[in-house]
Amino acid sequence: MILKRISNLLKKIFQENEAPAAGGTVEVAARLEQRVLALVDNMPALPATATRAMAIANDPDSNFIDLAGLIEGDAAIATALLRFANSAFFAGGAPAVKLDKAVGRLGMFRSKQLILSIGMKSMFQKMDTTTKDQCAVLWHHGYVTGFLCGRINRAFRLGFDGDEFSAGLLHDLGRILLIMADPDCAERAATMDFVEESDKLECERAAIGIDHCALGAWFGEHSRLPESLIGAMRWHHNPDFSKDSQKLAALVATADHMANHLQRGEETKAYNPEENAGLTGLWDRWPPARRDRFKSEISAMMDESAQAAAAAASA
Ligand SMILES: [Fe+2]
Ligand SMILES: [Fe+2]
Repeated sequence: MILKRISNLLKKIFQENEAPAAGGTVEVAARLEQRVLALVDNMPALPATATRAMAIANDPDSNFIDLAGLIEGDAAIATALLRFANSAFFAGGAPAVKLDKAVGRLGMFRSKQLILSIGMKSMFQKMDTTTKDQCAVLWHHGYVTGFLCGRINRAFRLGFDGDEFSAGLLHDLGRILLIMADPDCAERAATMDFVEESDKLECERAAIGIDHCALGAWFGEHSRLPESLIGAMRWHHNPDFSKDSQKLAALVATADHMANHLQRGEETKAYNPEENAGLTGLWDRWPPARRDRFKSEISAMMDESAQAAAAAASA
Protein backbone atom coordinates (compact mmCIF):
# COMPACT_ATOMS: atom_id res chain seq x y z
CA MET A 1 0.00 0.00 0.00
CA ILE A 2 2.76 2.42 1.03
CA LEU A 3 4.92 1.32 -1.88
CA LYS A 4 2.00 1.92 -4.24
CA ARG A 5 1.66 5.47 -2.92
CA ILE A 6 5.43 6.03 -3.32
CA SER A 7 5.32 4.55 -6.81
CA ASN A 8 2.48 6.89 -7.84
CA LEU A 9 4.35 9.89 -6.44
CA LEU A 10 7.48 9.01 -8.39
CA LYS A 11 5.50 8.42 -11.60
CA LYS A 12 3.92 11.85 -11.19
CA ILE A 13 7.35 13.47 -10.87
CA PHE A 14 8.59 11.78 -14.03
CA GLN A 15 5.43 12.88 -15.84
CA GLU A 16 5.75 16.46 -14.63
CA ASN A 17 9.28 16.69 -15.96
CA GLU A 18 10.00 17.45 -19.57
CA ALA A 19 10.12 14.48 -21.89
CA PRO A 20 13.70 13.29 -22.39
CA ALA A 21 15.31 14.19 -25.70
CA ALA A 22 15.55 11.64 -28.49
CA GLY A 23 18.19 8.93 -28.58
CA GLY A 24 16.73 6.18 -26.42
CA THR A 25 16.37 8.36 -23.35
CA VAL A 26 12.66 7.56 -22.96
CA GLU A 27 13.73 3.97 -22.22
CA VAL A 28 16.48 5.29 -19.95
CA ALA A 29 13.94 7.29 -17.92
CA ALA A 30 11.57 4.33 -17.66
CA ARG A 31 14.40 2.07 -16.47
CA LEU A 32 15.56 4.66 -13.93
CA GLU A 33 12.05 4.95 -12.52
CA GLN A 34 11.88 1.17 -12.02
CA ARG A 35 15.32 1.03 -10.46
CA VAL A 36 14.65 3.84 -8.03
CA LEU A 37 11.50 2.06 -6.89
CA ALA A 38 13.38 -1.22 -6.47
CA LEU A 39 16.04 0.63 -4.49
CA VAL A 40 13.46 2.14 -2.17
CA ASP A 41 12.04 -1.33 -1.63
CA ASN A 42 15.43 -2.53 -0.41
CA MET A 43 16.75 0.61 1.24
CA PRO A 44 14.21 2.26 3.49
CA ALA A 45 14.39 5.95 4.46
CA LEU A 46 17.27 7.45 6.43
CA PRO A 47 18.08 5.28 9.45
CA ALA A 48 15.49 5.73 12.20
CA THR A 49 18.18 6.87 14.67
CA ALA A 50 19.05 9.82 12.44
CA THR A 51 15.46 11.02 11.98
CA ARG A 52 14.69 10.54 15.71
CA ALA A 53 17.88 12.41 16.68
CA MET A 54 16.70 15.35 14.55
CA ALA A 55 13.40 15.40 16.45
CA ILE A 56 15.11 15.22 19.88
CA ALA A 57 17.63 17.94 19.07
CA ASN A 58 14.83 20.21 17.82
CA ASP A 59 12.67 19.63 20.92
CA PRO A 60 13.26 22.39 23.51
CA ASP A 61 12.11 20.04 26.30
CA SER A 62 14.72 17.37 25.59
CA ASN A 63 18.34 17.35 26.72
CA PHE A 64 21.62 15.66 25.89
CA ILE A 65 20.81 12.68 28.16
CA ASP A 66 17.77 11.91 25.92
CA LEU A 67 20.03 12.09 22.89
CA ALA A 68 22.68 9.86 24.51
CA GLY A 69 19.91 7.36 25.40
CA LEU A 70 18.84 7.17 21.77
CA ILE A 71 22.40 6.72 20.49
CA GLU A 72 23.07 3.90 22.97
CA GLY A 73 20.86 1.67 20.86
CA ASP A 74 22.93 2.18 17.71
CA ALA A 75 26.44 0.75 18.01
CA ALA A 76 27.79 2.28 14.79
CA ILE A 77 26.64 5.78 15.67
CA ALA A 78 27.71 5.46 19.33
CA THR A 79 31.24 4.39 18.37
CA ALA A 80 31.61 7.14 15.77
CA LEU A 81 30.33 9.80 18.16
CA LEU A 82 32.76 8.78 20.93
CA ARG A 83 35.64 8.72 18.43
CA PHE A 84 34.73 12.16 17.12
CA ALA A 85 34.33 13.69 20.61
CA ASN A 86 37.81 12.43 21.51
CA SER A 87 39.45 13.40 18.20
CA ALA A 88 42.06 16.10 17.82
CA PHE A 89 39.30 18.36 16.52
CA PHE A 90 37.81 18.44 20.04
CA ALA A 91 40.96 17.74 22.03
CA GLY A 92 41.09 18.97 25.62
CA GLY A 93 40.42 17.49 29.06
CA ALA A 94 40.04 13.83 29.96
CA PRO A 95 38.82 11.43 27.29
CA ALA A 96 35.02 11.15 27.12
CA VAL A 97 34.33 7.44 27.61
CA LYS A 98 30.59 7.71 28.20
CA LEU A 99 28.05 8.78 25.63
CA ASP A 100 26.44 11.51 27.74
CA LYS A 101 29.92 13.05 28.27
CA ALA A 102 30.64 12.82 24.55
CA VAL A 103 27.30 14.43 23.65
CA GLY A 104 27.89 17.08 26.33
CA ARG A 105 31.31 17.85 24.86
CA LEU A 106 30.04 18.11 21.31
CA GLY A 107 26.77 19.85 22.22
CA MET A 108 23.28 18.95 21.03
CA PHE A 109 23.56 20.57 17.63
CA ARG A 110 26.93 19.11 16.73
CA SER A 111 25.85 15.67 17.96
CA LYS A 112 22.75 15.89 15.79
CA GLN A 113 24.87 16.90 12.81
CA LEU A 114 27.19 13.98 13.35
CA ILE A 115 24.35 11.47 13.79
CA LEU A 116 22.69 12.67 10.60
CA SER A 117 25.94 12.55 8.62
CA ILE A 118 26.76 9.05 9.90
CA GLY A 119 23.19 7.98 9.12
CA MET A 120 23.53 9.33 5.60
CA LYS A 121 26.79 7.42 5.15
CA SER A 122 25.20 4.18 6.31
CA MET A 123 22.78 4.36 3.36
CA PHE A 124 25.52 3.44 0.90
CA GLN A 125 27.92 1.36 3.01
CA LYS A 126 26.76 -1.95 1.55
CA MET A 127 27.07 -0.91 -2.10
CA ASP A 128 29.90 -2.06 -4.39
CA THR A 129 33.25 -0.25 -4.13
CA THR A 130 32.80 2.10 -7.12
CA THR A 131 29.31 3.17 -6.02
CA LYS A 132 30.45 3.56 -2.42
CA ASP A 133 33.44 5.71 -3.44
CA GLN A 134 31.30 8.03 -5.56
CA CYS A 135 28.69 8.34 -2.82
CA ALA A 136 31.48 9.11 -0.33
CA VAL A 137 32.62 12.00 -2.54
CA LEU A 138 29.05 13.33 -2.59
CA TRP A 139 28.77 12.83 1.18
CA HIS A 140 31.95 14.90 1.58
CA HIS A 141 30.49 17.58 -0.72
CA GLY A 142 27.32 17.59 1.43
CA TYR A 143 29.28 17.87 4.66
CA VAL A 144 31.34 20.80 3.34
CA THR A 145 28.14 22.51 2.17
CA GLY A 146 26.45 21.88 5.55
CA PHE A 147 29.44 23.16 7.47
CA LEU A 148 29.56 26.32 5.36
CA CYS A 149 25.82 26.88 5.89
CA GLY A 150 26.39 26.68 9.67
CA ARG A 151 29.48 28.87 9.55
CA ILE A 152 27.79 31.60 7.47
CA ASN A 153 24.65 31.40 9.62
CA ARG A 154 26.65 32.02 12.82
CA ALA A 155 28.98 34.68 11.48
CA PHE A 156 26.22 36.69 9.82
CA ARG A 157 23.40 35.95 12.32
CA LEU A 158 20.93 34.62 9.80
CA GLY A 159 18.73 33.16 12.52
CA PHE A 160 18.70 29.44 11.67
CA ASP A 161 19.04 27.05 14.58
CA GLY A 162 20.58 23.90 13.15
CA ASP A 163 18.38 23.18 10.13
CA GLU A 164 20.90 24.93 7.95
CA PHE A 165 23.55 22.22 8.48
CA SER A 166 21.08 19.40 7.75
CA ALA A 167 19.85 21.23 4.63
CA GLY A 168 23.42 21.62 3.33
CA LEU A 169 24.38 18.04 4.17
CA LEU A 170 21.36 16.56 2.38
CA HIS A 171 20.99 18.99 -0.53
CA ASP A 172 22.37 16.58 -3.18
CA LEU A 173 20.85 13.42 -1.72
CA GLY A 174 19.09 12.97 -5.08
CA ARG A 175 22.51 12.47 -6.67
CA ILE A 176 23.45 9.77 -4.16
CA LEU A 177 20.16 8.06 -4.89
CA LEU A 178 20.82 8.30 -8.63
CA ILE A 179 24.25 6.67 -8.33
CA MET A 180 22.88 3.90 -6.14
CA ALA A 181 19.90 3.22 -8.40
CA ASP A 182 21.47 3.52 -11.84
CA PRO A 183 25.17 4.40 -12.36
CA ASP A 184 24.63 4.70 -16.12
CA CYS A 185 22.00 7.42 -15.58
CA ALA A 186 24.27 9.12 -13.05
CA GLU A 187 26.98 9.32 -15.70
CA ARG A 188 24.59 10.62 -18.37
CA ALA A 189 23.52 13.33 -15.90
CA ALA A 190 27.20 14.31 -15.22
CA THR A 191 26.59 13.75 -11.52
CA MET A 192 30.21 13.90 -10.42
CA ASP A 193 31.67 16.86 -12.33
CA PHE A 194 30.71 19.63 -9.82
CA VAL A 195 30.41 22.08 -12.70
CA GLU A 196 26.99 23.65 -12.41
CA GLU A 197 25.90 26.06 -15.11
CA SER A 198 22.42 27.63 -14.93
CA ASP A 199 20.97 24.99 -17.30
CA LYS A 200 22.25 22.04 -15.25
CA LEU A 201 18.82 20.75 -14.25
CA GLU A 202 17.41 21.06 -17.79
CA CYS A 203 20.37 19.04 -19.07
CA GLU A 204 19.68 16.33 -16.47
CA ARG A 205 16.00 16.17 -17.39
CA ALA A 206 16.83 15.99 -21.08
CA ALA A 207 19.30 13.16 -20.45
CA ILE A 208 17.45 10.98 -17.94
CA GLY A 209 13.90 12.31 -17.53
CA ILE A 210 14.31 13.71 -14.02
CA ASP A 211 16.70 16.04 -12.17
CA HIS A 212 18.49 15.34 -8.91
CA CYS A 213 16.52 18.04 -7.05
CA ALA A 214 13.15 16.45 -7.84
CA LEU A 215 14.53 13.00 -7.01
CA GLY A 216 15.98 14.19 -3.68
CA ALA A 217 12.78 15.99 -2.68
CA TRP A 218 10.72 12.92 -3.54
CA PHE A 219 12.99 10.77 -1.36
CA GLY A 220 12.80 13.37 1.43
CA GLU A 221 9.01 13.06 1.37
CA HIS A 222 9.29 9.29 1.48
CA SER A 223 11.69 9.59 4.46
CA ARG A 224 9.29 12.03 6.14
CA LEU A 225 11.97 14.67 6.54
CA PRO A 226 10.97 18.17 7.70
CA GLU A 227 9.47 20.42 5.01
CA SER A 228 12.34 22.90 5.24
CA LEU A 229 14.87 20.18 4.32
CA ILE A 230 12.73 18.90 1.46
CA GLY A 231 12.51 22.51 0.23
CA ALA A 232 16.29 22.89 0.33
CA MET A 233 16.73 19.69 -1.70
CA ARG A 234 14.12 20.82 -4.21
CA TRP A 235 15.13 24.46 -4.62
CA HIS A 236 18.87 24.76 -4.01
CA HIS A 237 19.44 25.39 -7.73
CA ASN A 238 16.49 27.83 -7.94
CA PRO A 239 16.09 29.49 -4.51
CA ASP A 240 13.81 32.19 -5.93
CA PHE A 241 11.14 29.59 -6.75
CA SER A 242 10.88 28.47 -3.14
CA LYS A 243 7.77 29.79 -1.41
CA ASP A 244 8.43 28.79 2.21
CA SER A 245 12.17 28.32 2.53
CA GLN A 246 13.68 30.88 0.17
CA LYS A 247 16.29 32.13 2.64
CA LEU A 248 17.41 28.61 3.54
CA ALA A 249 17.54 27.59 -0.14
CA ALA A 250 19.61 30.74 -0.91
CA LEU A 251 22.02 29.89 1.92
CA VAL A 252 22.41 26.31 0.64
CA ALA A 253 22.89 27.58 -2.93
CA THR A 254 25.60 29.97 -1.69
CA ALA A 255 27.42 27.26 0.27
CA ASP A 256 26.97 24.74 -2.57
CA HIS A 257 28.74 27.06 -5.02
CA MET A 258 31.67 27.44 -2.61
CA ALA A 259 31.76 23.68 -1.96
CA ASN A 260 31.78 22.95 -5.72
CA HIS A 261 34.84 25.16 -6.10
CA LEU A 262 36.63 23.15 -3.39
CA GLN A 263 35.44 19.86 -4.85
CA ARG A 264 37.01 20.74 -8.20
CA GLY A 265 40.33 21.16 -6.38
CA GLU A 266 40.58 24.88 -7.08
CA GLU A 267 42.40 27.31 -4.77
CA THR A 268 40.28 29.07 -2.17
CA LYS A 269 42.10 32.32 -2.94
CA ALA A 270 40.99 32.08 -6.58
CA TYR A 271 37.31 31.95 -5.58
CA ASN A 272 35.15 34.68 -7.12
CA PRO A 273 31.96 35.40 -5.10
CA GLU A 274 30.55 37.48 -7.98
CA GLU A 275 29.93 34.18 -9.79
CA ASN A 276 27.86 32.83 -6.90
CA ALA A 277 24.20 33.17 -7.95
CA GLY A 278 22.97 32.02 -4.50
CA LEU A 279 24.47 35.13 -2.92
CA THR A 280 22.08 37.36 -4.86
CA GLY A 281 19.17 36.08 -2.75
CA LEU A 282 21.16 35.79 0.46
CA TRP A 283 22.73 39.24 0.70
CA ASP A 284 20.03 41.14 -1.15
CA ARG A 285 19.38 43.51 1.75
CA TRP A 286 22.82 43.55 3.32
CA PRO A 287 24.65 46.88 3.60
CA PRO A 288 27.90 47.12 1.58
CA ALA A 289 30.10 46.80 4.70
CA ARG A 290 28.51 43.46 5.57
CA ARG A 291 28.99 42.21 2.02
CA ASP A 292 32.64 43.24 2.18
CA ARG A 293 33.10 41.37 5.45
CA PHE A 294 31.58 38.27 3.83
CA LYS A 295 33.97 38.53 0.89
CA SER A 296 36.98 38.97 3.18
CA GLU A 297 36.05 35.86 5.22
CA ILE A 298 35.27 33.52 2.32
CA SER A 299 38.72 32.03 2.00
CA ALA A 300 38.99 31.21 5.72
CA MET A 301 35.47 29.75 5.81
CA MET A 302 36.23 27.48 2.87
CA ASP A 303 39.48 26.25 4.45
CA GLU A 304 37.71 25.54 7.74
CA SER A 305 34.97 23.58 5.98
CA ALA A 306 37.50 21.31 4.27
CA GLN A 307 39.21 20.59 7.63
CA ALA A 308 35.88 19.87 9.36
CA ALA A 309 34.81 17.47 6.60
CA ALA A 310 38.12 15.60 6.84
CA ALA A 311 37.66 15.24 10.63
CA ALA A 312 34.07 14.00 10.22
CA ALA A 313 35.05 11.58 7.45
CA SER A 314 37.46 9.79 9.78
CA ALA A 315 34.83 9.44 12.56
FE1 LIG B 1 22.54 20.12 -6.51
FE1 LIG C 1 25.83 20.36 -4.54
